[in-house]
Amino acid sequence: MSISDIDLTHLPQHIAIIMDGNGRWAKERGLERMYGHQAGADAVRRIVETTGKLQIPYLTLYAFSTENWNRPRTEVDALMTLLVSAIQNELDNLMQNQVRLNVIGNVDDLPEACQQELIAAIHKTSQNKGLTLTLALSYSGRWEITRMVTQIAQLVENGQLAAKDITPEKIAATLNTFPLPDPDILIRTGGESRISNFLLWQIAYTELFFVDTKWPDFAENDLLKIILQFQNRERRFGKTSEQIKSC
Ligand code: IPE
Ligand code: IPE
Ligand code: MG
Repeated sequence: MSISDIDLTHLPQHIAIIMDGNGRWAKERGLERMYGHQAGADAVRRIVETTGKLQIPYLTLYAFSTENWNRPRTEVDALMTLLVSAIQNELDNLMQNQVRLNVIGNVDDLPEACQQELIAAIHKTSQNKGLTLTLALSYSGRWEITRMVTQIAQLVENGQLAAKDITPEKIAATLNTFPLPDPDILIRTGGESRISNFLLWQIAYTELFFVDTKWPDFAENDLLKIILQFQNRERRFGKTSEQIKSC
């Protein structure tokens, strides 16, 4: 498989990935889980490169969920340290490739050093014109929906919004992902077929792909195969196949 097998006129605009399987990847090799997370960071670099090469505008990566705070303290601390060093090591690369860094999730939960590194990198890359790379950190769909409902309820309480004016558009515009478009493709690596509290509202019509490959092994070829399958799916959005074909 190569990029020439892909129809470049029919590319997804937004790919979201649940990067799962790092721990099992390490365990299979008789290594500590952290080695899997480190290898996972290398996989991120590869996939960011491929996505950029294809000129896909949005990539969103689930890096740490709200529920991941319940992991052993040593793993959480090591992941936060890895996050800081990955941002430091990749910043030049992001600048060269015109990548704009973005974050969703409860950033206030992150250790101070992570917050500072993230904010600085987001600021430094903010004028880049290529891929928007969104990291979901301390993120969960239910956290995001609760935050949205709280904000909307506050507007109603203050008399700034009438309950009858709450629309799907208003809800989408109040989510943490705004103004990103909804993902066209959601990939979960690592063999599980579940969403684990990722982008619950946004994936209403997303094409889902569950692959056995563990995240550290996920390579350009795996992404290209998924994009090719995506291009062969018919997205009907509730309509009939005939309606879709006629327009
Ligand atoms: C995904 O890999 C990375 C994070 C959730 C931070 P896991 O660490 O969940 O790997 P497995 O599922 O245990 O193999
Ligand atoms: C989902 O993976 C979260 C991330 C990839 C960041 P988990 O490994 O936390 O999901 P579960 O616990 O298997 O559902
Ligand atoms: Mg997992």
